[in-house]
Amino acid sequence: MATNKLLLLPGDGIGPEIMTEVKKIIGWFNARGTVSFETEDDLVGGAAYDAHGQAVSDATMERALAADAVIFGAVGGPKWDGVAYEVRPEAGLLRLRKDLELFANLRPAICYPALADASSLKREVIEGLDILILRELTGGVYFGEPKEIIDLGNGQKRGIDTQVYDTYEIERISRMAFELARTRSNKVTSMEKRNVMKSGVLWNEVVTATHKQGYEDVQLEHMLADAGGMQLVRWPKQFDVIVTDNLFGDMLSDVAAMLTGSLGMLPSASLGAPDGKTGKRKALYEPVHGSAPDIAGTGAANPIAMIASFGMALRYSFGLVAEADMLDKAIANALGKGLRTRDIAAKGEATVSTAGMGDAIVAELDALSA
Ligand code: NAD
Ligand code: IPM
Ligand code: MN
Repeated sequence: MATNKLLLLPGDGIGPEIMTEVKKIIGWFNARGTVSFETEDDLVGGAAYDAHGQAVSDATMERALAADAVIFGAVGGPKWDGVAYEVRPEAGLLRLRKDLELFANLRPAICYPALADASSLKREVIEGLDILILRELTGGVYFGEPKEIIDLGNGQKRGIDTQVYDTYEIERISRMAFELARTRSNKVTSMEKRNVMKSGVLWNEVVTATHKQGYEDVQLEHMLADAGGMQLVRWPKQFDVIVTDNLFGDMLSDVAAMLTGSLGMLPSASLGAPDGKTGKRKALYEPVHGSAPDIAGTGAANPIAMIASFGMALRYSFGLVAEADMLDKAIANALGKGLRTRDIAAKGEATVSTAGMGDAIVAELDALSA
């Protein structure tokens, strides 16, 4: 049996708390004996900054490059508000994404039947929802140069960020969108702002041209990203795959989180291109949410986004589709039995802790495999 190497980067805030729950799931699969995971823990974010002055060290980067998949918790928090921009906790995550060339960020938003009343939206709007936001992750305004604050010398400063996209970057994320749509409901909605942004004009052009290169069986529509945000809360079930740039994807996926009931429910997979020789993709799996400093240390964090992110690793890095389906079912069953962390509980409803939810999902895995 091949051993799969995982690098675990818990990070800051609730990161270590939710990673503890993923370790239970990894332990469960290892004990079952049909798959084998070897794990290594390392520091990232504020924890890494505290230890060696960098949000991710070169040694950690080497481990990440050598691993079959990176499982990432969350980084950041008020403790590091004052540190230099270049070494702030979030820079560690951005370096991992860039250096591993993880250009495709899959953020599925699924409304579990048991949570159809947990969203701030009406049940009929979100019941049965299953959409995928495909966010471009290594380009756009996150990485474009110049990126700086310059002193204009007249008592004024200028903050500059630059949105840049090259054809190849839009082309590869478009292909991924069409290919993913084929495994789902066969529809892609591309979102940009071609009405004000040159990069939006190019984005629209390249998505359209790529569609004509063998993907015409997939339905393609274009939407301005601001209108797309509105449509996402008006009638989200009109979407299947939404493909968009780095910044729009960041914002739209937090919006989509509330369609599922909580930010604590949204997993993600960040994938690179398949290696020419082995066909394997570099990959990092992380919840969409952050380090939630407001609830860190209270046992209130929902571990489902983190556990479901590991489920995405089973599916996308290891081809363990049956195991991934089983883990998704275990999550659905725990929710179906009424288990709720605070973020997804109705007013007055009993809640379980982070560990309570992790244990319940492990118990459901036991029940499913009995
Ligand atoms: P956040 O996602 O950490 O929290 C937003 C709100 O959602 C908070 O009220 C929080 O309690 C709640 N929440 C988030 N995850 C939850 C969970 N699993 N269970 C229950 N409730 C949950 O966003 P923020 O407060 O804007 O950012 C806090 C820090 O996290 C910042 O430093 C930010 O840069 C960082 N951040 C990191 C990542 C990441 O590591 N991938 C993502 C987003 C934000
Ligand atoms: C996310 C986060 C990150 C982003 C931050 C922490 C760098 O918000 O993963 O959604 O903006 O991409
Ligand atoms: Mn975000």
